[in-house]
Amino acid sequence: MREVVSRYANLVQKNGRYWACCPFHNEKTPSFHIDIEKQTYYCFGCGKGGGLINFIMDAERMEFPEAVEFLARMYNMEVPTTESEGEALLKKRILAMNTEAARFFRDMLSTDAGAQARDYIAHRRLSRQTVLRFGLGYAPDSWTALTDHLRKKGYNANEMVLGGLAAKGKNNGLYDIFRHRLMFPIIDGRGNVIAFGGRVLSGDGDGQKYRNSSNTPVYSKKVNLYAYNIAKREKVDRLILVEGYMDAVSLHQAGFSNTVASLGTALTPDQARLISKITDTVVVCYDADRAGQAATERAIGILRDASLKVRILRIPGAKDPDDYIKEFGADAFSALLDKASDSSDYRMQNLKQDKDLSEPEQKVEYLKQGCEFLSNLTSAVELDVYASKLANETGVTKEAILAEVAKLREKKAGAERASRRRTELDPGRLVQPPRDGGVRYSDPTRARTEEALISLVISHPELVEKMPELRREDFSSEQLGRLFFEVRERIKDGLDPTAGLEQSLGREEMSILGKINAALYPHENPRRELGDLLERMMSRRTGEGDTDPLLEIKQRKSKGYGG
Ligand code: CTP
Ligand code: MN
Repeated sequence: MREVVSRYANLVQKNGRYWACCPFHNEKTPSFHIDIEKQTYYCFGCGKGGGLINFIMDAERMEFPEAVEFLARMYNMEVPTTESEGEALLKKRILAMNTEAARFFRDMLSTDAGAQARDYIAHRRLSRQTVLRFGLGYAPDSWTALTDHLRKKGYNANEMVLGGLAAKGKNNGLYDIFRHRLMFPIIDGRGNVIAFGGRVLSGDGDGQKYRNSSNTPVYSKKVNLYAYNIAKREKVDRLILVEGYMDAVSLHQAGFSNTVASLGTALTPDQARLISKITDTVVVCYDADRAGQAATERAIGILRDASLKVRILRIPGAKDPDDYIKEFGADAFSALLDKASDSSDYRMQNLKQDKDLSEPEQKVEYLKQGCEFLSNLTSAVELDVYASKLANETGVTKEAILAEVAKLREKKAGAERASRRRTELDPGRLVQPPRDGGVRYSDPTRARTEEALISLVISHPELVEKMPELRREDFSSEQLGRLFFEVRERIKDGLDPTAGLEQSLGREEMSILGKINAALYPHENPRRELGDLLERMMSRRTGEGDTDPLLEIKQRKSKGYGG
């Protein structure tokens, strides 16, 4: 662990423990801790933590299997695999076939048949270099050009169909899916050609402007972003998110190589996670039309949930970023980028849109919506700024606005208390999602007791035998419960309580484990401490004996205060 971590951070030893300035966020004094013996890390500053594999996932921005492979290579070990050999082989074949297809499309671009595609590329003002960088190509106007080519290269019908490049027609004959289109290979973060998009060569092609690969064993459109392979290499403080292939290509050509496209589908949490692996700030720059703006609203929520800072760029006088660059140039876009409003500003603007503030009724409506929005802001500074803004716009005093906001908040707090009461009765409810890599507890006091208990059994496994049966609902968060029961199972099986836990637990549980190890609980009198901790945890039990907690809730609900 020390050896691996020291490749990424400057470790210093203090009282026999290892600290560093966190490699995952900016800081001047070390709050990043590693536990050499238990092989975990935790940053008290940003909340990132976990085991060795988790560390590589964070440091190299890799998914779990990739990180395992990476570590195995570092130590010259054999790579473990969970996939069946057949599945793995098929994926390999499809990826190789895709690369072959991309090569074929690219070569077609310089043949006689590719003349119209070359014209179209010129018409969209794409440079030779851009065409090369994105590996653009041309799918010829033929039913079998690609399938014939791939067959010659040794790929069979099954592979072509499963790979989304061909379909079976009448009499089981194969035909090409992409015909007479400008081809955009979609390449993942590891450089694999995983799919294609193809655009008609003129106009909008009656609803079929773009054809895209279906989901295949190597491609799911929900978890990929176009141009991610290039943007990932950029060391930038923000990422630009656009809707279309052409928008991304065009922005890259104009020098904004930190751009990715979500490809016309609604942005997914998986895509947001992918983004958060390479940056902490996103500038959303979707189409100016109504659909684009609605998609922006949805994207804001999803990006924020992934702990990303969100800014919004509107493009005045153009329908999309590609259009804008062509019309006004890269400098104008760069100026827009610097002025991109934060998502709160954007939402306020949206509320005001189409309202005539000289009409009292519409003004009141705007104030109502505005105060409702303000009441959800968590930052006091933000609240102050936008309350002033709303006051200025409407001529109502800021005091009145803040009073209204306070009233709304009070109302909400009441509702929340009621819902928290219900949550406590409902063991199945999840706690809030984690922020900034750490876990946010719904009840920090209880969580501390439970963390101490986990720490205690890790350092004194023999105590497990002396413990009464704990239940899932004895823990204040799902994550703490999962961590505890996993550790307890291992101890009962005679295994090391925590070694290799990251194989079976998620990031949040592992981060908690890193934190527990870093916190260094003293455990001076283990037995007494166990008694105290258990007493504190058990006192939460409602004293209703061993009734089924789920049944209990159903009964409560039917009495009318469930949720
Ligand atoms: N899209 C699609 N199928 C369509 C239309 C759009 O898959 N029939 C997806 C494509 O990924 C496209 C994105 O939605 O890039 C955005 O659509 P649109 O704004 O219409 O495309 P542009 O990128 O503006 O395309 P162009 O400039 O080439 O017209
Ligand atoms: Mn466009």
